[in-house]
Amino acid sequence: MSEQINVAVLGLGNMGATHVKAAIESPWVSNIIGYEPDSERAEQRGSELKIKTTSNLDEILNDSSISLIYIATPNPTHVELTTKALRAGKAVLCEKPMGESLEEAREMIAVQQETNGWLQLGFELHYSTLYKKAKDWIDQGLIGDPVNTHCRYYCSEFHKKNTWRSNSEGSLIGEKLSHYLDGQRWFIGSPVESVYSITAPKVVKYFNHPDNHQINIKFANGAISTLIFNMFMPETDAVDPLLEVMEKQSDDGHYLQFHIFGTEGAIETDVFRRRIRRWKFTDGPEQLISEIAETIHFNKEDDLEWFHNVHGQNIRVSELVAKGLPPETPILDSYESMKLCFAAELSEKENRIVNLSEIK
Ligand SMILES: NC(=O)c1ccc[n+]([C@@H]2O[C@H](COP(=O)([O-])OP(=O)(O)OC[C@H]3O[C@@H](n4cnc5c(N)ncnc54)[C@H](O)[C@@H]3O)[C@@H](O)[C@H]2O)c1
Repeated sequence: MSEQINVAVLGLGNMGATHVKAAIESPWVSNIIGYEPDSERAEQRGSELKIKTTSNLDEILNDSSISLIYIATPNPTHVELTTKALRAGKAVLCEKPMGESLEEAREMIAVQQETNGWLQLGFELHYSTLYKKAKDWIDQGLIGDPVNTHCRYYCSEFHKKNTWRSNSEGSLIGEKLSHYLDGQRWFIGSPVESVYSITAPKVVKYFNHPDNHQINIKFANGAISTLIFNMFMPETDAVDPLLEVMEKQSDDGHYLQFHIFGTEGAIETDVFRRRIRRWKFTDGPEQLISEIAETIHFNKEDDLEWFHNVHGQNIRVSELVAKGLPPETPILDSYESMKLCFAAELSEKENRIVNLSEIK
């Protein structure tokens, strides 16, 4: 095994705790330090998570023994913290989104290029078995050429009043939908040509941004995608729906599904039914014949590994950095997904089709 590395986790809230747990369990990590800007909170979270913490960021940036920084702070801080960490020579895994505006995303990319730094965005679908399986089936040619994808995502309102999320200037497209737009790009495998997104009047009045989106994408190879989202219908949960009891959510209005249609078959991923299915199309004498060719169910114990594998992603990232290997999801590819998010926002604002060539 290569040498172990020391890591830091910035932001010790819900996601920060997941990052800390992964670092504790990673065989590639020897020491962990956490950071919270407020010294009392730093101390409190340190004792809860059982790690050393600091409220002095320079202590981390100037410590040459720390090679990797995980960033799990509120979205408005991502670009500033990532660029500081890259300039200090650290490898960085930053949670999505890549800032709250196109200008911020550009800045993150510019500093990564200037420093030639190691940077990966937390697009954990690429590490989650459910979506890796779908991508595998596509790559094996089992559905022919993917020509259309639908993503339906309905989740309950869990951002709550007067939090950084509900007050955020950034839209829910970057915050919640960047994973799924990135997924649609990943499945289709062709550059995005244009996007047209629309949003209905808000139901959640205290959000500073829309609470629903219908995002339509056209790809350069002619394929299309639609993503529909709302954040109010499913029954209210006490915590993040992805961490809440799945049994309750399986039929209370929660949906998180992809349908991927190809020229020779189709794939459905369904988080709340814990299932992935594949259809096969054949040319019968009288009609196109469609049959379900394969169904895989996953177990409750494997939920996170199957559809929300931040844990596995983070362990893998520590391994990549420890072994001196490059990022696995290239940052310029993640930037393309973020450009799509900002283009969809622009499309809503100006009520027009936005060509991705407009978004440099
Ligand atoms: N990959 C995923 O599926 C996924 C899921 C949830 C959240 N996230 C992302 O993780 C990030 C954190 O989300 P969360 O749910 O943990 O939020 P949270 O509010 O629970 O935690 C944020 C933490 O950051 C701290 N903080 C605030 N300002 C800071 C600063 N300037 N420097 C360092 N720490 C600061 C807060 O005190 C808090 O402890 C967000 O960017 C979010 O988009 C990703």
